[in-house]
Amino acid sequence: MEAAFSSSQCSYEEYKETADWLLAHTEQRPKVAIICGSGLGGLADLLADKTVFPYQDIPRFPTSTVPGHAGQLVFGRLQGRECVCMQGRFHFYEGYNIHTVTYPVRVFFLLGVETLIVTNAAGGLNGSYNLGDIMLIKDHINMPGFAGQNPLCGHNDDRFGLRFSCMSDAYDRELRALAKQTAKEQGCDGFLQEGVYCMLAGPSFETIAECKALQMLGADAVGMSTVPEVVVARHCGLRVLGLSLITNNVVSDYDCVEKANHEEVLRTAQHRTQDLQRLVSHLIAKI
Ligand SMILES: *[C@@H]1O[C@H](CO)[C@@H](O)[C@H](O)[C@H]1NC(C)=O
Repeated sequence: MEAAFSSSQCSYEEYKETADWLLAHTEQRPKVAIICGSGLGGLADLLADKTVFPYQDIPRFPTSTVPGHAGQLVFGRLQGRECVCMQGRFHFYEGYNIHTVTYPVRVFFLLGVETLIVTNAAGGLNGSYNLGDIMLIKDHINMPGFAGQNPLCGHNDDRFGLRFSCMSDAYDRELRALAKQTAKEQGCDGFLQEGVYCMLAGPSFETIAECKALQMLGADAVGMSTVPEVVVARHCGLRVLGLSLITNNVVSDYDCVEKANHEEVLRTAQHRTQDLQRLVSHLIAKI
């Protein structure tokens, strides 16, 4: 499977083949898609009337390799609303090319999805953030994009979107307002933040000098995902809401003995995951 994705972009017909297969295998027609981040795949378990497709069963779909990522597409209802959840996403650091990382987003578009909700586990760069805070993503810094890894590089297919895609409005203002209102209603507003997410390619965590640099650039949280999917989603006109669970504080002080580790990320995710799930499901009911 990986070999088929290793070199280049996919054609419209390839995405279409995947989408048509899914449409033929479920009667659900979700308008909302959710990409679940590290340790946040539990959201998909809350769906009612589920239809589950392991990635390896879906034609042309890539497969997931990280612990904490189940690797399946789940169709179902959340608060009565049809949605489709990616339980396990594809990361650039796994060795996938940037087009493969974003493959599912164009499939969602061809399924008729109009809104994409992305969640991730991120390191807090902003000194006022606490572990377990939920950050609404207001904007992003596409660091791999700076380095030439933008998923829109290559031939542009107008059936998806324009050659030059606007990103100044990537994170939908209305959806963010709705999320804030929902957080208030759900009693989550005490740990809701709003800030800038910076993506690094990973898989190594940030050095202290890198953290200081990112803080200077205005980033509030840092992670290894989300941005490529959002870029592709905006290109094809999907509305986007992004949520980061702050699962670790990055080390930006040379005297600090703490070290970043993936276990801490998964532990914190587990702790606040219910709140995040509640927020997302109540939010979906309002979209
Ligand atoms: C950190 O977050 C707070 C609260 O959201 C915000 O007011 C502030 O501008 C952010 N940035 C820095 C550098 O503190």
